[in-house]
Amino acid sequence: MTDPQKVIDAAAESDENRRDDRIQGRTAGEQQDGIPFIGAGPGDPGLLTVTGKELVEAADLVVHAGSLVNSELLDRYCADVEQVSSIGRDLEELVPLMRNAYEADRSVVRLHSGDPAVYGAALEQMDALEHEGVPTYIVPGVTSAFAASATLRTQLTLNGVANHVAFTRPRGKTLDPENDHIGEFVGMGDVTTCLYLGTHAVSETMDRLIQDGHDPETPVAVVYHASWPDEDVIEGTIGTIGAKLDAAGYRASAMVIIGAAARKAGYERSYLYGDWANRDSAGGEADD
Ligand SMILES: C[S@@+](CC[C@H](N)C(=O)[O-])C[C@H]1O[C@@H](n2cnc3c(N)ncnc32)[C@H](O)[C@@H]1O
Repeated sequence: MTDPQKVIDAAAESDENRRDDRIQGRTAGEQQDGIPFIGAGPGDPGLLTVTGKELVEAADLVVHAGSLVNSELLDRYCADVEQVSSIGRDLEELVPLMRNAYEADRSVVRLHSGDPAVYGAALEQMDALEHEGVPTYIVPGVTSAFAASATLRTQLTLNGVANHVAFTRPRGKTLDPENDHIGEFVGMGDVTTCLYLGTHAVSETMDRLIQDGHDPETPVAVVYHASWPDEDVIEGTIGTIGAKLDAAGYRASAMVIIGAAARKAGYERSYLYGDWANRDSAGGEADD
């Protein structure tokens, strides 16, 4: 197969000023020809979309994201189907595996955890497959930040408390310190910052926030395995959460939510069910 990075670079050059014609005439959620990249959701089999479930049930080969996809979901929807974990396999192995099965007229699905569009590395597989003549598309899923906010029984945006949401991750092996913007999001004050891929680095991230002058009393909640049977919640502040998480021993599979929305207090009633509801005629957009 062609070097995947060359495919990505060539596509960027040729597509710069051109609308992708695969976007026309299709809607997200519609079943299409090709390999669907499906968001499996955060874990609970009930949080897979109806379309995702139908596609998984009809599959001959399910390539999934290993331990990030709940085995209960695989057992429930595709127990008798060939299953391959993508963990430890590179593009050079995964792409021919899916292409060959598709060309042999097998129904192939690719299951990513949460939503494939968030820290999912789906597009590089899709582009490499399309370059090999295999059509692909995305079926969205429930990202873990949404499952965590449901667990916490809060909203990520909350009137008077949080006007914005940041999906981000801390510096580490694959993110340079200059691209770590957690401090900037927290510093904005009205942002709910959702940390993916950062459970192992919570203590050092919080220490850095304190060193940089952020309020140690800022609320933080960590949701381990949101929507799984062993789901757990640890609540604290920038000053306390590191020690609490270290004591609990979770090193992965957790969502860290920083900001006042994590404590779901101090918000104001919304305009939607106040003045806006009592206005004479509709106009503009309001909250849901
Ligand atoms: C490779 S990223 C994949 C994210 C995924 N695409 C999504 O939309 O949730 C893996 C990170 O997502 C978060 N994560 C995934 N599933 C989770 C769950 N059930 N509960 C809490 N965090 C989860 C963790 O932060 C984990 O390190």
